[in-house]
Amino acid sequence: MVGRAPQDWSQLYRILLRLLCLLPTGLPVRSVDFSRSTDNITVRQGDTAILRCYVEDKSTKVAWLNRSGIIFAGQDKWSTDPRVVLEKRNELEYSLRIQKVDVFDEGPYTCSVQTQQHPRTLQVHLIVQVPPKISNISSDITVNEGSNLTLVCKANGRPEPLITWRHLSPSDGDFNWEEEYLDITGITREQSGKYECKAANEVSSADVKQVRVTVNYPPTITNAKNNEAATGKPATLRCEASAMPLPDFEWYRDDSRINNAQGMEIKSIGSRSTLMVANVTEEHYGNYTCVATNKLGITNTSIYLFKHDLPTIPNPVSEGDPTDHFNHKGPGTATGENGSPCPALSLWLMTASLLWLLCKC
Ligand SMILES: *[C@@H]1O[C@H](CO)[C@@H](O)[C@H](O)[C@H]1NC(C)=O
Ligand SMILES: *[C@@H]1O[C@H](CO)[C@@H](O)[C@H](O)[C@H]1NC(C)=O
Ligand SMILES: *[C@@H]1O[C@H](CO)[C@@H](O)[C@H](O)[C@H]1NC(C)=O
Ligand SMILES: *[C@@H]1O[C@H](CO)[C@@H](O)[C@H](O)[C@H]1NC(C)=O
Ligand SMILES: *[C@@H]1O[C@H](CO)[C@@H](O)[C@H](O)[C@H]1NC(C)=O
Ligand SMILES: *[C@@H]1O[C@H](CO)[C@@H](O)[C@H](O)[C@H]1NC(C)=O
Ligand SMILES: *[C@@H]1O[C@H](CO)[C@@H](O)[C@H](O)[C@H]1NC(C)=O
Repeated sequence: MVGRAPQDWSQLYRILLRLLCLLPTGLPVRSVDFSRSTDNITVRQGDTAILRCYVEDKSTKVAWLNRSGIIFAGQDKWSTDPRVVLEKRNELEYSLRIQKVDVFDEGPYTCSVQTQQHPRTLQVHLIVQVPPKISNISSDITVNEGSNLTLVCKANGRPEPLITWRHLSPSDGDFNWEEEYLDITGITREQSGKYECKAANEVSSADVKQVRVTVNYPPTITNAKNNEAATGKPATLRCEASAMPLPDFEWYRDDSRINNAQGMEIKSIGSRSTLMVANVTEEHYGNYTCVATNKLGITNTSIYLFKHDLPTIPNPVSEGDPTDHFNHKGPGTATGENGSPCPALSLWLMTASLLWLLCKC
């Protein structure tokens, strides 16, 4: 465009000469210096452009031209475009006002001023700017882990907007991709989340849109622990699995599936499942299996419910003895640490006996 400018001007000028016959006969066309640098006028799409032009003498013949022809010749409007008017704030002004400028208005404009002695042209290059606007972006998508994915973001604007992709969640700070197309080969579950496309040019603030990428993967058990419970007490077994889509859970006791009816309740919310036993009896102790399933796979783990003897009251004296935890008796017994009668009780018995003996006397 810029490189072709001198040619444009000469074309315009010839059109002018042909149509207006303003040039005094004999004055050669090449006498106008077409290589002179032109002024740029930058206007945003939708705004009004005013291309200024002044004459020295109000009797001078003047005209405005654009690439396709004459817009105004003197006071006569040749253009049929209602957005175009002359702006004459005084006798010597001959400016062109273009309302609601659009991209097709961009290009060279010439104000041609004809005097007997020397023709003069004012050349203006109208540049129309358009704010960046994302015109097409991939919709939210779900893919399986390991597959290849291409996200696309197309934007319009003048100058051509710079397009940048960014992974938003989980935040992936340094990831920035300057391309309309974002290719992800062998996508991982960590690459799921929101992707942001930003289209920016210097005209106005950037246009930003997001795409949500969901990566499906088969379940893996992330948390499952054995537990212990006393008879007559409630017990809970927990199982947690990572999966997308979220897993379905099933519980098995040895080989048989557990359902809610057997005094047990299964509650599964999101990636967690719990098996609750309201009132533990001897038959409840044993091996359970938590099975997590989604459409991409199945996995299981075994969780053991151990018997726990009642009750566990920490005994400071026996803290160092690991066997004590399981063997020690409840507080109702009068048996001491090593099985011998409690010293306090012995003392009391001895005193009582003594008193009894004394009374007898
Ligand atoms: C007009 O804009 C073009 C780029 O569009 C630039 O190369 C040229 O230098 C500008 N001319 C002036 C006079 O600013
Ligand atoms: C300039 O010319 C183009 C065609 O090249 C035309 O569509 C446009 O309306 C013209 N602009 C004005 C302001 O007349
Ligand atoms: C957006 O791009 C896709 C693929 O390039 C195409 O199939 C779709 O028709 C486009 N949508 C619009 C609104 O341009
Ligand atoms: C993903 O792209 C890689 C490299 O371009 C290619 O080797 C592989 O076969 C593609 N995988 C799928 C599932 O299309
Ligand atoms: C638990 O079950 C036993 C035996 O069936 C029963 O005696 C006891 O009352 C139950 N306890 C509770 C809290 O339901
Ligand atoms: C529980 O059962 C599974 C198989 O169902 C077995 O692999 C595992 O060893 C058992 N655990 C115990 C503690 O018996
Ligand atoms: C648990 O998985 C093993 C092998 O992965 C399988 O043999 C077994 O049948 C599964 N158990 C259940 C209860 O699904």
